[in-house]
Amino acid sequence: MHILVTGGAGFIGSHLVDALLEAGHDVTVFDNLSTGCRDQVPEQARFVQGDIRDEAALKALFGEGHFDVVFHEAAQTQVSYSLAHPREDAELNVLGLINVLEQCRRQGVQKFIYSSSAAVYGDNPKVPLDESEPLAPASFYGLTKVTAEKYIQLYGDLFGLPYAILRYANVYGERQGNGGEGGVVGLFARALARGEDLTIFGDGEQSRDFVYVKDVARANVAAIDGEVPSGIYNISTQIETTINALKEILLYFSHAGVAVSYGEARKGDIFRSSLANGKAREHLRWRPKMKLMPGLMATYQYFIEKEEQA
Ligand SMILES: NC(=O)c1ccc[n+]([C@@H]2O[C@H](COP(=O)([O-])OP(=O)(O)OC[C@H]3O[C@@H](n4cnc5c(N)ncnc54)[C@H](O)[C@@H]3O)[C@@H](O)[C@H]2O)c1
Repeated sequence: MHILVTGGAGFIGSHLVDALLEAGHDVTVFDNLSTGCRDQVPEQARFVQGDIRDEAALKALFGEGHFDVVFHEAAQTQVSYSLAHPREDAELNVLGLINVLEQCRRQGVQKFIYSSSAAVYGDNPKVPLDESEPLAPASFYGLTKVTAEKYIQLYGDLFGLPYAILRYANVYGERQGNGGEGGVVGLFARALARGEDLTIFGDGEQSRDFVYVKDVARANVAAIDGEVPSGIYNISTQIETTINALKEILLYFSHAGVAVSYGEARKGDIFRSSLANGKAREHLRWRPKMKLMPGLMATYQYFIEKEEQA
């Protein structure tokens, strides 16, 4: 199949591109390299540098070739940035999305697969949360994800564009940057690889559902299947891990004698988070395979090797 991945030079997008190429697809990446890296895009994929806010660039891209499936990963991904820059956040995450959806509609794309987030649920104390829980985002980032989901559903209803909305929990793994939602793993692993001290925001008892990036890439590939009904699917492990537990595991691996300090909790952060994944298990025939310990070890190893190359 001919597949477009927006944001394919980023953390999750680049693992998705790897998985798509491995499955024998023909892949084009569209990315402005604002947080992504050109060298994360494999040679076998076609790379087009451009911005999803640029309608003309997208028109040219879709005009050059027909895409059967479009994965939309490009976004502003930081909760804190969305609070400081709500307008830019919305321009990227809502208007940018609409630009891509418009091209998909016009070109008769067979499926649109979107990266949504646990941030749509806000601070709901019920865990694990399933897809029918109310949407109550606690940040502008979460609000743009809710709005994006509604646009995609309406494009589905009004224009018959089939879709899969994948609500990722906290994604971690090799190539992850500093800022995204699973960012704490990358921040800690990078700091430990450098022998730097760790800071935890809040008391560290806040929990997250850490899902390994290659499992997330597999879920995306599974969503291509025409038998998968248009809908919303949580992509998660359904397991809660506290930030304190995460810190202990990483300290254990690293033998780094660094100091750990606790700072003020950040605005917009969710206290407990875990997503039910039964719907993805049933319809995508997907389940997370990577256990937390080996996944964290692989991530830590990646940052060690990066430090050695630097
Ligand atoms: N990392 C997580 O834990 C997590 C959790 C839930 C949802 N998500 C979602 O998954 C998607 C991918 O996130 P990620 O963690 O890989 O982030 P990332 O920052 O590594 O990837 C985003 C990519 O999009 C590109 N991009 C940004 N703005 C662009 C623009 N205007 N035009 C074209 N390209 C642009 C960046 O250069 C980057 O390559 C995002 O939609 C994010 O909201 C991530």
